Amino acid sequence: MSAPYTPFMDPRTARPPGVGPLDRAAWLCVDDDFAAQMAERDALFEAPDDDVACALPEGEAPTAELLALLLDWTARDGRWRREGGAVIRPDSVAVPLDASPLTVIGRLMQEDALLLIPGEPEYLLVAGTLCFPQRWALSEKLGRPLTDVHRPVPGYPETLAARINRMFAALRVEAPLMRINWLVHPTDTLRIVQREAQKGPPPDPGRGWHLRTERQCLLRLPQTRAVVFTIKTTVTHVDRLSAEHRAGLRDALAGWGPGEIAHRGGVPIWRAALDALA
Ligand code: HEM
Repeated sequence: MSAPYTPFMDPRTARPPGVGPLDRAAWLCVDDDFAAQMAERDALFEAPDDDVACALPEGEAPTAELLALLLDWTARDGRWRREGGAVIRPDSVAVPLDASPLTVIGRLMQEDALLLIPGEPEYLLVAGTLCFPQRWALSEKLGRPLTDVHRPVPGYPETLAARINRMFAALRVEAPLMRINWLVHPTDTLRIVQREAQKGPPPDPGRGWHLRTERQCLLRLPQTRAVVFTIKTTVTHVDRLSAEHRAGLRDALAGWGPGEIAHRGGVPIWRAALDALA
């Protein structure tokens, strides 16, 4: 399994927004879980529904630009290689380039990718791939502005919306950004689709408690000026964390407010997670 990401260890990244600069060369991950996650992605892209990949008509040009960027990036990176009409991934699987652009994007990279275009008064979600949602559904969010996308997130309009809108407006092609979201879940299930009206705790299949991190990057596409938001999800059993990281995670979890606790599944699940880290 991949070394876990540990944003909870640093007060600057433990709480949202926790955004910092991204080294462009480090945009895409090839973590230890690459092959396993890509196999799961490939299976979803055999017959993708609108909760795996979808686009509005205004999302088509940004999607085409993202695909071009991805092909260029992977060609330069050295861990992917072009062979005829396909790209060979780091796990040696060939991805044919004659599939739909969103399918090629979703099968080439470990990250999910969401595309947003400027709207009034906020950026709008217009296309994306989403194999590993953390309790949300792509088709339900498509076409909505950022604050509305975040409707279930407590405190978003008051504390995050204005900062994130400014960040989007100011994002420069040459200066991408990143942040890491983190949670403690009673599951290692990567794909957790939930609609807003049916939001509930994450499933508990009895495989123990896991740290779930989402490494999120924000890049501006130069032609369409769309913003691409990529998410690399990593799940790590809490028993695999060092004593220092377990203690840091417990402290950060203990600091959640009532709104965050309720949004992320409720008090019983929060208490059980704290106990699992004790
Ligand atoms: C850098 C800026 C961003 C920050 C600080 C941020 C912050 C957050 C936070 C704190 C949550 C709650 C996560 C949790 O439950 O653990 C969240 C959820 C979410 N975010 Fe963001 N976000 C950002 C950008 C975006 C973008 C660009 C999208 C694009 C669509 C997005 C889509 C979502 C969705 C769909 C959810 C789940 C909402 C739900 O519960 O239904 N976020 N975000």
